[in-house]
Amino acid sequence: MKWPNHGGQPEAIKKLLHMNDEKKLLDFSANLNPLGPPNWLQESLNNSYEVICRYPDPTYSTSSARVANHEGIDPDKVLLTNGGAEAIFLVAKYFEQGKALIVHPTFLEYERACKHYHIDVEDIFYKQENNFKLPMETITEKLTDKNILFLCRPNNPSGTVIPEEDIKVLLEEGKKTDTYIAVDEAFVDFLPASIPTLSAWLHTYSNLILFRSLTKMYTIPGLRIGYMMADASIINQLKKEQIPWSINGLVDAVVPKLLEDNRFVEQTSNWLHEQSNYIYRTLKQLNFYFSASSVNFYLLRDNLQPKRTEELFHFLVGHGILARHTHNFKGLNGKYLRIAIRSKEENEQLLTALRKWRETS
Ligand SMILES: Cc1ncc(COP(=O)(O)O)c(C=O)c1O
Repeated sequence: MKWPNHGGQPEAIKKLLHMNDEKKLLDFSANLNPLGPPNWLQESLNNSYEVICRYPDPTYSTSSARVANHEGIDPDKVLLTNGGAEAIFLVAKYFEQGKALIVHPTFLEYERACKHYHIDVEDIFYKQENNFKLPMETITEKLTDKNILFLCRPNNPSGTVIPEEDIKVLLEEGKKTDTYIAVDEAFVDFLPASIPTLSAWLHTYSNLILFRSLTKMYTIPGLRIGYMMADASIINQLKKEQIPWSINGLVDAVVPKLLEDNRFVEQTSNWLHEQSNYIYRTLKQLNFYFSASSVNFYLLRDNLQPKRTEELFHFLVGHGILARHTHNFKGLNGKYLRIAIRSKEENEQLLTALRKWRETS
């Protein structure tokens, strides 16, 4: 079967499975915040309508300064991008024809960006049986001849978080081997306050590169807002590579407002805490494996029938639920499903379907 590369494509899946167009599928395959977008955003975009009649400030100075302030770093360490995806491709461009290390299973676009810029990639794998722990010894051995290591923290698709101590060891090692450590923090805003972002480390480590996206937290995949943070020397270089006016005027106008909305982030955190506790408690009772995720999605597999994941996928579709297949995550090859945490009612529908699966299969 030709599976779509990303989640959030119920129409493509319906076509693939020859399903009736009318059939409704609850989308648990995209890991977006179900509380978003924030209520005020539509009116704010309407009010900003006139900005489309002129070119945006090519340096995005107001938004960039606002991001820098939000992160507690200097504005010259920030580059606003057209979604997190553009940041990944810009960094790959910076290391064009170099050597990279990618730890799988992880977000597919690091590999695609590396291929695009003829970067020679070596793949290594998380220790799945050990709570997706990083293979630290293997990484440190292999850093020697690499220009860049790509990490995702929290990791997509497992939702697991690399301990800070491990990142520190890798940054120190990278200093010796002249290797940059790129950490994708696209889901960092979903983490509990006890696990902070790495942005403060930019003061200490000039070989740290961070990717961010506002897409997931604010449910705005169609707006395209991201940024990257790194040493000013890299940011300066990448500013020259970035397509002019890559970020549109509407985005430039709303970035400061989005970053101010602490209440929305707090509401999200309360919802996630409540729902994830309930879901994991129930999954445990039903004897399903779930990855030790700290964010708004997790990997799922039936502990009693681990080889029947594909059947489970189809069973859920039959019950109106679309999970994210994991066929194209290297190292997972379809063994798990990635499931988003959604509203209370939707999560209840998922759990009801899983109870049925347990009773009938
Ligand atoms: C880990 C990770 N990084 C980056 C992105 C890209 O985000 P954006 O939509 O802001 O380009 C995604 C989107 O799925 C993602 O999962």
